[in-house]
Amino acid sequence: MRKLTIAIDGPAGSGKSSVARVVAQRLGYLYLDSGAMYRALALKALQNNGLALTSEKELENLARDTEIELQPVPPSLHDPTVHNRVLLDGDDVTQSIRTNEVAQAASRVATIPGVRAVLVAAQQRAGASGGVVMEGRDIGTVVFPRAELKIFLEAAPEARAERRWKEHQEKGESLALTQVIDEVKERDKRDTERKVSPLVRASDAVLVDNTAMGVEETARLIILLAHERQREVSATKSLE
Ligand code: CDP
Ligand code: CDP
Repeated sequence: MRKLTIAIDGPAGSGKSSVARVVAQRLGYLYLDSGAMYRALALKALQNNGLALTSEKELENLARDTEIELQPVPPSLHDPTVHNRVLLDGDDVTQSIRTNEVAQAASRVATIPGVRAVLVAAQQRAGASGGVVMEGRDIGTVVFPRAELKIFLEAAPEARAERRWKEHQEKGESLALTQVIDEVKERDKRDTERKVSPLVRASDAVLVDNTAMGVEETARLIILLAHERQREVSATKSLE
């Protein structure tokens, strides 16, 4: 069977990472979490004392001077909050990019066109050979506009914030649920309203609202859609 490129986009906490990881595992595809790249760059900016998150030029230069690598995690690892192993200039930052502070900073650096150009090019290189599930905000619209299967994953904002809040609780980062709801909404607003590559559903993306669905059920649905697309793609190819 021909391997597909699968793009999964959607707002924070819609289940992209957990679902994409299961889908990739079952299909034997490479899973790539593009958001981890924005998070890693944001972490470096935060660590780089004095590098203002608003300084477009400095952040663009920082993106050019930074090496971010996403590696698969072994299937035996069942921690749902660990997606890819993330190396920032060779250092393992897999865990340290998962804080609330880094999430907020990531959505700020992600508004800068020069930063996006650098990271989008890296994402396109990483997924160039197909057989990949990549998730983020602009995968179906900008990174892989010709992906054979595009999913736009949605869930009610309160459900998404509660999922994120639970993760922070489990990691000992104690935050008020109302704070997480406000921050998720703020990040959604910044992501959907930014000028460059805003979070928007591609016209050919399948909308999946998983407010009332678990990770397993959502992943199964996407795998069914992937098998259907594979059959369609193979039938088209055999006519050519
Ligand atoms: O990547 P994204 O921010 O879209 O979401 P995620 O990190 O995959 O999911 C956030 C949390 O919600 C994880 O702990 C998932 O296990 C959970 N989740 C869920 O309970 N039900 C779903 N249908 C999807 C995700
Ligand atoms: O896991 P969660 O959905 O909370 O966020 P993420 O996927 O780790 O992404 C963190 C931030 O990076 C998002 O709020 C976006 O601002 C940005 N991002 C982006 O602009 N484009 C992408 N393809 C992925 C993430």
